[in-house]
Amino acid sequence: MKMLVVFVILLHVSQHASAVEVVEGDHFVLLPCEFPTFDLDEPTVVWSRSDLSPSTVHQRQLEGDELTEQNQRYSGRTSMKTDALDTGDLSLNLTNLQLSDSATYTCSIRNFRGLRRRSEVQLQVKERFPSWAKGLLGLLVVVLVAVGLLVHFRQCFMSVYKVEVDSEVESVQLPCRTIVHLFKDVRVEWTDRCNRKVHVYENGSDQPEEQNQVYIDRTEMKKDLLRPGDLSLTLKYPTLSYTYTCTVYSREGNILMEKEVLLQVKVQQVEVKVEGGVESVQLPCQSRVHLPEDVTVVWKFCQSKTTTIHVNHNGCDQRDQQHEFYRDRTEMNEDLLRTGDFSLTLKHPTDSDTGRYTCTVLMDKHFPMKKEVKLRVKVQQVEVDSEVESVQLPFKTTVHLDGNIRVEWWNSYNLKVHVYENGSDRPEEQHWFYIDRTEMKKDLLRPGDLSLTLKHPTDSDRRTYTCTVYSRDGHILMEKQVKLKVKVQQVEVEEGLESVQLPFRTTGDLPQDVRVKWFNRDNGRTVHVYENGSDRPGEQNQVYRDRTEMNEDLLRPGDLSLTLKHPKVTDTGRYSCEVIAREWYLVRKKTVQLKVKERTQVKDETVDIRNRRSSTDPTPLMADQSV
Ligand SMILES: *[C@@H]1O[C@H](CO)[C@@H](O)[C@H](O)[C@H]1NC(C)=O
Repeated sequence: MKMLVVFVILLHVSQHASAVEVVEGDHFVLLPCEFPTFDLDEPTVVWSRSDLSPSTVHQRQLEGDELTEQNQRYSGRTSMKTDALDTGDLSLNLTNLQLSDSATYTCSIRNFRGLRRRSEVQLQVKERFPSWAKGLLGLLVVVLVAVGLLVHFRQCFMSVYKVEVDSEVESVQLPCRTIVHLFKDVRVEWTDRCNRKVHVYENGSDQPEEQNQVYIDRTEMKKDLLRPGDLSLTLKYPTLSYTYTCTVYSREGNILMEKEVLLQVKVQQVEVKVEGGVESVQLPCQSRVHLPEDVTVVWKFCQSKTTTIHVNHNGCDQRDQQHEFYRDRTEMNEDLLRTGDFSLTLKHPTDSDTGRYTCTVLMDKHFPMKKEVKLRVKVQQVEVDSEVESVQLPFKTTVHLDGNIRVEWWNSYNLKVHVYENGSDRPEEQHWFYIDRTEMKKDLLRPGDLSLTLKHPTDSDRRTYTCTVYSRDGHILMEKQVKLKVKVQQVEVEEGLESVQLPFRTTGDLPQDVRVKWFNRDNGRTVHVYENGSDRPGEQNQVYRDRTEMNEDLLRPGDLSLTLKHPKVTDTGRYSCEVIAREWYLVRKKTVQLKVKERTQVKDETVDIRNRRSSTDPTPLMADQSV
């Protein structure tokens, strides 16, 4: 029995490992996968099994689920959260579990630049009733009968109860009842799995001096407990899953009875939401239990990896144990031992701090308490039409800034967008992609306006931008993120037109040696390529042969529009134009949604004649052209 209990506890503790075990026929299982996808341009998440063909189990893109390549076995059995790509929680919900679902599942996140991340989850689906279990069942009946007889004769038996509570309840009752007559001079001992004395009762009264200090003032037993044979223990403020044992000793010290109770405390998750750009956020973690001296508090951030972000031992911060990314960013109360308030203050939270945090309080090297906080840092979003003159990434603050500051705007690909220091811009520090395209207020300190103006935004500017303000000695004073979205332009035409234009006018100079590629985003077909001053018809898909045209000297006027001749209904789709320079660096990008409608069928007879003539006209023309 003890073995079983230990096993159950191990399962409970190891829930963060990336192996998942379920039983055949279970309603559903969640395969975990987390990654901050909101930063990526056009992310695609694929859940797959490399041992199957086709290997796709589930696929999610910005537009939604894409299940055309899904393996038949998983048809109708998979789902992901609707806001998965916004929250970064890419878990797969797999339903109606079958034995053949046991496998290694790969969660891969890619975008147009390639694979961004891969993680694996091992799923094991076990048989509900394995054949040996059925045989064992028969044996068990025999054993149980034997044990029952034994119990009857020796007045001693053991069984495990399971009690489940939320971590926020006031108290919980751990049951221990007996129908056996107990004499007055018995000793009742409640112990925990670390063999600490939880409560002791002897010779008709409680013995508080014997109990472990962790349990002082937290336990209660019935007053006249022998009469009703109820030895149950009321435990206040349960904090962590434990096994408790109730043992009854005779005067001679023989064990008369022993019962185990498995207490499972469900760790509740507190949700905290803040706007990006705030000074700090508090992650709550309070203890309701009296704590002895030897206490260690560990705060961790659990994203794809677990990072230790703050450690405090007996009221002293252990800075050497924290990850350097959190240096100077975390703080705990000074008198946390007295108050039991282990909340963590996290300064300048940004998007990358979104995720799950755990607060673990260790005493005597055991876990007496664990809390979870889910933090969501909301990122301000700005959406503009493509081809607007400029866009403002807002950052207004009321904090007083003295002259000696440094302001850095970065994009999510770690390129410096704009730098300002000691009263002037530092264009020599910014990435060439942003030269002459950015502007900050001239006297930015007075009105507290650190907003950035970005000129000529295109698809390739769809990024998350981070503005960090440093003091003279290099400390972060403020930080804010803004996510820029650029709308996809819609073009709608009717079939039968001579041609349609997919517009793309860029401003600002383009480097000389660029490669311009128009492609159909939905099927990956290359529509038109221009490189080193000339078109590359050899690279285009035959569907588009002789049907595309770009300006002759297209770089000079910055007009990268594509003319597509004789648009057909099947041309409907999203078309992207990428301008690539210098070792595949993306310079400009734009997406146009083209919709080619069928010719409208007119119901009115009289109009129909007129219409039919005009609608049939272009058809021979198209036939002629394609010959
Ligand atoms: C998984 O999907 C099933 C069936 O749609 C649903 O009942 C269950 O609540 C889902 N689980 C989670 C955690 O979303």
